[in-house]
Amino acid sequence: MNFENVSVQKLESFIALVTIERSKKLNALNKSTISELHDAFVTLESDDNVRVVLITGSGDKAFVAGADISEFSEFSKEEGVLLAKKGQEILFDFIENFSKPVIAAVNGFALGGGLELAMACHFRLASENAKMGLPEVSLGLIPGYGGTQRLPQLIGKGRAMEMILTGGMISAELASTYGLVNTVVAQEELIPTCISIAKKIIQNAPNSAKVAIQAVNAGYKNDMDGFQTEISLFGSCFGTDDFIEGTTAFLNKRKPNFGAK
Ligand code: COA
Repeated sequence: MNFENVSVQKLESFIALVTIERSKKLNALNKSTISELHDAFVTLESDDNVRVVLITGSGDKAFVAGADISEFSEFSKEEGVLLAKKGQEILFDFIENFSKPVIAAVNGFALGGGLELAMACHFRLASENAKMGLPEVSLGLIPGYGGTQRLPQLIGKGRAMEMILTGGMISAELASTYGLVNTVVAQEELIPTCISIAKKIIQNAPNSAKVAIQAVNAGYKNDMDGFQTEISLFGSCFGTDDFIEGTTAFLNKRKPNFGAK
């Protein structure tokens, strides 16, 4: 499945790699790339042969260097609101609430909308050369794709305020100390390391991955009670094929078989 600015590859069984293919513009997110990413994720959602999605940027310099500045420099206030609203709806919130784990492989600059995209993923790994920041204040803006909310959730309010207000970049190593990325590896090890984590995920029940994502996310939504959501989602697992396989396998002292090789 390929688009003009986005490619999707099946790597190994149940693992898909989404790559943003605008390396000449450091993979900046223009309107059509955002829409193509949405279409790619919609297709991956209904593909039973995909259980984990990795997302990265093409080339060795950037994950995504932000929203495409050339597209919005003439925008009015109303157009600005629409830009943020639509982007959040069709891409950033869509990925955060995706029913399968999405791992960001941050292979270089992740700035502005690029860091916001990585933060919308369920977790992040980075290569040693990666640099992360929210430079919107240098453009007379603030982050508009969820950055003011997700960054404090991930690294705490004080550190997030410092990053947002200075607009500065931090190294992969500091991002790891902050907990913004889980692991830092050499660039050539980035996708292989993501694959090895994805392989562990797909040994487990796919329905459990889906409802675990919903339960964790519920705790970060103002209109939801995370503990109550956990109770009802926990209950919803009973009687499912995955539950029957998992418990039967344990009681019969064998490994569960959720279809992964
Ligand atoms: N929007 C549009 N174009 C972008 C872009 C963005 N966010 N980030 C990079 N590009 C383009 C550059 O304009 C340049 O295009 P050109 O070759 O047609 O002139 C190309 O990508 C390469 O970028 P360049 O700036 O030459 O690379 P660099 O190595 O000198 O600097 C960065 C790298 C990331 C520091 C620099 O590109 C940058 O500051 N980008 C903007 C980051 C930003 O503010 N993002 C938040 C947007 S809300």
